[in-house]
Amino acid sequence: MAASLRINCKPVSTAFRVNPASKCSRRPFSVSCAAANGPQKRYSITLLPGDGIGPEVISVAKDVLKLTGSLEGIEFNFQEMPMGGSALDLVGVPLPDETLAAAKNSDAVLLGAIGGYKWDNNAKHLKPETGLLQIREGLKVFANLRPATVLPQLVEASTLKREVAEGVDVMVVRELTGGIYFGKPRGFRTDENGEEVGFNTEVYAAYEIDRIARVAFETARKRQGRLCSVDKANVLEASMLWRRRVTAIAEEYPDVELSHMYVDNAAMQLVRNPKQFDTIVTNNIFGDILSDEASMITGSIGMLPSASLGSSVLTKSRGPGLFEPIHGSAPDIAGQDKANPLATILSAAMLLKYGLEEEDAARRIENAVLDTLNKGLRTGDIYSTGTKLVGCKEMGEAVLRSVDSQVHAAV
Ligand code: IPM
Ligand code: MG
Repeated sequence: MAASLRINCKPVSTAFRVNPASKCSRRPFSVSCAAANGPQKRYSITLLPGDGIGPEVISVAKDVLKLTGSLEGIEFNFQEMPMGGSALDLVGVPLPDETLAAAKNSDAVLLGAIGGYKWDNNAKHLKPETGLLQIREGLKVFANLRPATVLPQLVEASTLKREVAEGVDVMVVRELTGGIYFGKPRGFRTDENGEEVGFNTEVYAAYEIDRIARVAFETARKRQGRLCSVDKANVLEASMLWRRRVTAIAEEYPDVELSHMYVDNAAMQLVRNPKQFDTIVTNNIFGDILSDEASMITGSIGMLPSASLGSSVLTKSRGPGLFEPIHGSAPDIAGQDKANPLATILSAAMLLKYGLEEEDAARRIENAVLDTLNKGLRTGDIYSTGTKLVGCKEMGEAVLRSVDSQVHAAV
């Protein structure tokens, strides 16, 4: 299988190749690398550039990881693999076996974005989105952390009034491998009147709720200690169980303040008074919707990273996490150097923090992003009068300079 993928890859071999690890960044302004002492730690990272703007933002984030690693004594071995529409075009499936195997064998996975008009009318099993669901399921990453933080530099980019948006810092903990996305029975059928019917099943087992609840309580504990569980327990049985289990797990976390909210109210409260939320825990589909809503409070979905973690998050055992910006593949601006790479760069920071426990390296990247915004650089999606409009590459280069200059300041 691996051989067949490689053969099929040949015509576009520049797009997907196994890159040997490099100790030094190729950037002219990189400092002397940790090469003097040799890297102390090595990690293998699977890169899934995907479709649309995916390859552009992944290329920038990869450079940021490389440089940061060289400054922190970390060596990354990157392996780029096809996924989504690009994999469909190459080998006819959205998640080739080789891609899943490479992801499973690595320390962490960084994904760009998948999807595009070209594949919109494909049968379900041949949609790029199906590949995304398959890799989430394959890596068993049931806990999806989606932070929505309004940065002081970007308050003007929010569509909400300054006094509503300023200071918002919400973490949405979304259940990612269960619920209606995966529930059975599902499908299409014809009913007794000859009417075509489409159907899905919202289903949660107690263990699935318990484990996501624990991740959420742990997350809230490290934040402001407030957890709001969002459900539709006034109507749905799966939500009734959800509320009961979350309430039971709360006994393990007496230091965390738990509240419950129906999803329709939560959607309304998020735009009315988002500052009331600290950590939100919710099921797969409500989390999908609420995290997009929360992202817009921050000004742009182009800023928001995410981390998808498996049981390693609770047990500290190994098992690669999947890190991705929450934005889509934006085919309308693909290949035009207009994409905002910051969500992917911040996803790389989450990869370091949550995936590899390399907190110093993560902080270095986060600081570099803030520094770059402080310098007034903005891609189109976060542009406001008085700031400097730049493209994806220029934004990436500015972040690299900032990653680099922090070291000079520190020595
Ligand atoms: C997301 C996306 C995906 C989802 C799609 C692309 C399958 O909207 O990551 O939020 O619904 O989970
Ligand atoms: Mg979504």
